[in-house]
Order: sequence, then structure tokens, then C-alpha cells
Amino acid sequence: MGFGRGKVILLGEHAVVHGYPAIAVGIERGVHAEAQPAKHDRLRLSPWGLELEPASDGTEPLERAFAAVLESYEERPPLEVSATVELPAGAGLGCSAAIGVAVLDAIDEAIGRRRTRAELAEAALVWERVFHGNPSGVDNTMSAVGGVALFRRGEPLVPLRSNKPLHLVIGYSGESSSTKEMVASVRRQLEEDRARVTQTFDGIETLVRNAKLAIEAGDHVALGQLLDLNHTLLSSMMLCTTKLDAMCQAAREAGALGAKITGAGGGGCMFALAAKREEAARLKDVLGEGAFVAEVSA
Ligand code: PMV
Repeated sequence: MGFGRGKVILLGEHAVVHGYPAIAVGIERGVHAEAQPAKHDRLRLSPWGLELEPASDGTEPLERAFAAVLESYEERPPLEVSATVELPAGAGLGCSAAIGVAVLDAIDEAIGRRRTRAELAEAALVWERVFHGNPSGVDNTMSAVGGVALFRRGEPLVPLRSNKPLHLVIGYSGESSSTKEMVASVRRQLEEDRARVTQTFDGIETLVRNAKLAIEAGDHVALGQLLDLNHTLLSSMMLCTTKLDAMCQAAREAGALGAKITGAGGGGCMFALAAKREEAARLKDVLGEGAFVAEVSA
């Protein structure tokens, strides 16, 4: 069975596209996939009831992404790939990357090809490029590798170690957004006001560096404060929505150590950091429908 995890960016999204570091975690919710030799190439995606064939000039990104993945294999029989998606799409949890990783992993298994999870992450970039245009690589890397890590574009992943698990509660706003559009919006802001946006990215980098130390020291109170500050900086680039802001605020008022949007923003998900497991379960109720707990060990 092929598997691609979902991911949560703890800090540093958007800046990471421009070469700054980010900290992300892999979560156990993701995409499972299975591939079998068949008459024709086909991809089925449940629970969406989608069934498609590869088409490198297709109108649907999924058709093009599937074609790009299949073309990356030199020799293989026609394959039918069935994937089950456990993540909301367009919600900042790296759903598209998780599908790409799971599909590649399933095909590798079906044809007996062996590669490391890091190599799998690299291979999944062909899929991600169809959706993101200019992906930093954080989604496919965390999806394949998991754990808690410091990521910087073009550099080896730096796994972070801590003896204290992170109790995250992920809330879904129900608003979908396009990563490609949000990334383009930040790029436009950077072109129009380079000094302001560079200062924002520099600020985010400082938060990321401090968060690395806080995670390694198990200081989740400090980490929570850094998350709140990162949320404010993302807000300043117009990446939050009224609903996401309200969800973050509700989580803080209910005792979360910190809360912020995660991923591209403009909709999608936020997450809160809870002090312990029982707190996380309580915050899940505060964050309403679609909220779930993810406990991550570094
Ligand atoms: O919203 P998601 O899950 O696609 O996360 C995107 C993260 C960005 O930093 C905004 C883009 C990227 O390629 O890193």
C-alpha cells in the first residue's frame, strides 16, 4: 500500500517559497493508494468518486499530474491506481502532494522499484509542479518523510529532535483557496513593495529560528507565542480570512498556547498548539466540524 502523509507547516509558509526556512510536520492523516496492472492507465480517487486517465495536455490538473508521474517511469505495464484521500483539498494540509507521493509509492510497489522516502519526495515534484507552478518542495518532502523538520529550499532536510510530542489541533474553515493564487499574490506584493515584504520574511525567519530552539527545548509556551506572531505576519500579507482569524482567536481564548493559519492561507486550515493531550481533545470541540487532533513526535 502506498502512503503519503498530510503536512502542517508550523512556521514559515510563503517565505519558504523565497528561500527562507520553514518548520513543518508530517501527520498520520494522508492518502493511501494501491496500483495494479490493468488494460489502461487510470487513476481513481475516493471518496471524491473521481476517475481519470492521464493526459499531458488535459484540461484537468489531475490528468496532467498523473501523466507526468507515469512519464517519469522508463518501463512499466499499464496501471490502475486507486487512492483514498483522508485530507480536505485546497486546505493547506498538502493534500495534492500527499496524493502524488502515495501514487508514486503505490506504483513503485507494484513494479518492484525501490527508493528511499527522500528519493520518493524528489520524484513527487513532477506532480507538485502541475498544481503549484513554483513549489518550494516542503509539501512533497514532509509528505514522504514525516517527523518534525526544518526545511529550506534546495538544502537537505534538518530533522528536529525533542522528547516532548507536539499536540496539534487542526481546524478547517470550510473555505477553499488556491495555493498557486496565494503564492502569486505574495510575489506581487514583493515586487510592489520589496522593502516591506522582505522585512516581513526576515521577521518570519527570526520566528522560525527561535521556534527550532523552542521545539528542541520542549518549551511549548514559547513556541505558542511564536506561532501567534507568525500568524500576525501572515495577516499583514493578507493571507487570513475573518473566519480563520475567529477560529485562531477562539482557540487562544479556550487555552491554546498559540494558533495560526497553516499553508497557503486565504481559506483552508488553521491549527492550535495544546499544552497536553486532554487539552487538545477539548480544543477540537471548540474548533467545530472537521477539526481533528494530530500528535506529532519529533
Ligand atoms: O497550502 P499548501 O498545503 O499547498 O501549502 C503551501 C505552502 C506554501 O509555502 C504557501 C507554498 C510552498 O510551495 O511552500
